[in-house]
Amino acid sequence: MPYNKKLTIGLFGFGTVGEGIYKVLQQTPTLQASIKKIAIKHAHKVRQAPAKLFTTNPNDLLNDPDINVIVELIDDADASFAIVSTALKNGKAVVSANKKMIAHHLPTLLELQAQYQVPFLYEAAVCGSIPIIRNLEEYYDNDLLNSVTGIVNGSTNFILTQMIEGGLSYETALLQAQELGFAESNPALDVEGKDAVNKLSIILHHAYGVAVHPDQILHKGITRLHPQDTRYATEKGYQIKLLAKAKRIGEQELKAFVLPSFVDANSQFYNVKNEYNGVLIGSKLADEQFLYGKGAGRYPTSSAVLSDIAALRYDYRYEHKKTYGGTTYALNEHSQVRIYVSYNRNEIVETNDFVAIEETYQSHERSYLVGIIELDKLKNAYWLEQEGVSVVSLDEIKLSQTALSPTLNNTALAPTVLA
Ligand code: HSE
Repeated sequence: MPYNKKLTIGLFGFGTVGEGIYKVLQQTPTLQASIKKIAIKHAHKVRQAPAKLFTTNPNDLLNDPDINVIVELIDDADASFAIVSTALKNGKAVVSANKKMIAHHLPTLLELQAQYQVPFLYEAAVCGSIPIIRNLEEYYDNDLLNSVTGIVNGSTNFILTQMIEGGLSYETALLQAQELGFAESNPALDVEGKDAVNKLSIILHHAYGVAVHPDQILHKGITRLHPQDTRYATEKGYQIKLLAKAKRIGEQELKAFVLPSFVDANSQFYNVKNEYNGVLIGSKLADEQFLYGKGAGRYPTSSAVLSDIAALRYDYRYEHKKTYGGTTYALNEHSQVRIYVSYNRNEIVETNDFVAIEETYQSHERSYLVGIIELDKLKNAYWLEQEGVSVVSLDEIKLSQTALSPTLNNTALAPTVLA
């Protein structure tokens, strides 16, 4: 395949990223990639591009034999799946940023790629500008990869930073994340941890060759965090970050979750602020490597889309080597996590669910406990869904640093129901 293959693009979507990539391609003529047609939903919106480029008929792109690349940048996951599958069946290479669609349809998308033998790239779907997918695909053999942990959602990181350091309310910070083009059209996907778990599912696939549906993975967002949790963090010198984690815990087993997490000043994540993302790779030989960059926003995301388009010039494709040839991994839902739970009524937390309770603090205003629990117990815990309960992972904090504070009413308890 020649390195300078000419790319004729059909673009779906002209929102934050779609318009971004349109502008960026105009400024990169050496790429020899031109947009022939842009499919949009609403014909009458004013757009900063010639009207003749636009159509509301997807088939104008999908059935055009001149178009050899479909770039799909819409936010509707169902429509995205229909577009991407048709494009692959029609022999067109596809670039997508739709993490929800990819995470929810991984096995089918793998089959389509195997059957039709066309590239399907989606670097922009995970961590915006950080080239994590291609690194996991090309550089890390899974035997060497101990863990992949990341701040993978820019909006929630922006909101947490603005609330804790900028003194903004949750509502104002969320509104800003929307105005700046970081948040999903439905921002519940960001704040409830859905976007992060979709990205974790894609990471798990490229890191360990597993196709785990996001619903199978424990995930909690930031909506339940209480001011007491931030006070606890400040008292201990921690930051709260929404972390997605995949960790090899045995020869063939994985621990995976998305949880708000305390991190201390020694952590690489401590200074990852606003819409920045960071991914810490734990490797058997290299020890730790950290990738850092903007995870959301028009141009950071466009940069990953552009890199995928550029890679199509030499027909680059993911080989999914870990799926087709590596160790077979599975999630171990009995793996354990150390958590802090805060709550406003003493009887609310079922401590029998815990393997061990390490610390409790009770007051009439708000109480908390620190304990170890299995992931499936936490995933199914009815008490976690009740009003006023919040959970933060302590998985990133070394045990000695969670040593009981002499100023608080700590009691080592055998698991029992707090009353
Ligand atoms: N809403 C996403 C985020 C956009 O905030 O990270 C980038 O995937």
